[in-house]
Amino acid sequence: MENSTPSFISPQINSEDMKLEKPLRLGILASGSGTNFEAIAKAIDQQQLNATIPLVIYNNPQAKVKEKAVAFNIESKLLNHREFKRRENLDQAIVDQFKSYQVNWVIMAGWMRIVTPVLLEAFPHHVINIHPSLLPSFKGIKAVEQALEAGVKITGCTVHLASLAVDSGPILLQAAVPILPNDTPETLHIRIQQQEHKIFPLAIALAAKLYP
Ligand code: GAR
Repeated sequence: MENSTPSFISPQINSEDMKLEKPLRLGILASGSGTNFEAIAKAIDQQQLNATIPLVIYNNPQAKVKEKAVAFNIESKLLNHREFKRRENLDQAIVDQFKSYQVNWVIMAGWMRIVTPVLLEAFPHHVINIHPSLLPSFKGIKAVEQALEAGVKITGCTVHLASLAVDSGPILLQAAVPILPNDTPETLHIRIQQQEHKIFPLAIALAAKLYP
């Protein structure tokens, strides 16, 4: 028997579906370790996703995504949310930066801030989020813990277009991940992230086809 966790990605999508005529210009927002950023950057390097990443914005001075951006030779900027009085002010600074880099898609790759109309209206239908659960279940923080506490046997991850309500908006792709008897939040999150890395580049291409 194959020694890997079974997974299911829906809908099935192949490399033909990912072909985009014009390269996307992705602005990445990340708060943490940046493994999803890395997966997207790798998909671009391996020519699976026709895109460039002109700028990564992160909000925590310690965010590991910064070093990952350096490794890919991609520019990054810290916009520390603690230095902004209101969420709208942070989002306006993000919009200004991304617009000055001619970004046309905003990718929230582990962005732990609530977005406002300032960001969403600057990039209508072009803001994408990833969340570590099968939405609409387990929205908000600690989604992996929420799934474990609920006792569900299957959880997963979702890539969707962002809307004003937290972790809501049209779903692009999902992948299912079975919960194993001895799972901890950490072991489960690792397997969910393995699926995130697969579906995120696919979902970005799909979004670009659906909302050119
Ligand atoms: C990912 O698992 C992502 O789904 C989650 O943060 C992690 C970031 O990991 N996002 C959310 O919970 C947003 N609601 P990464 O920094 O290694 O990409």
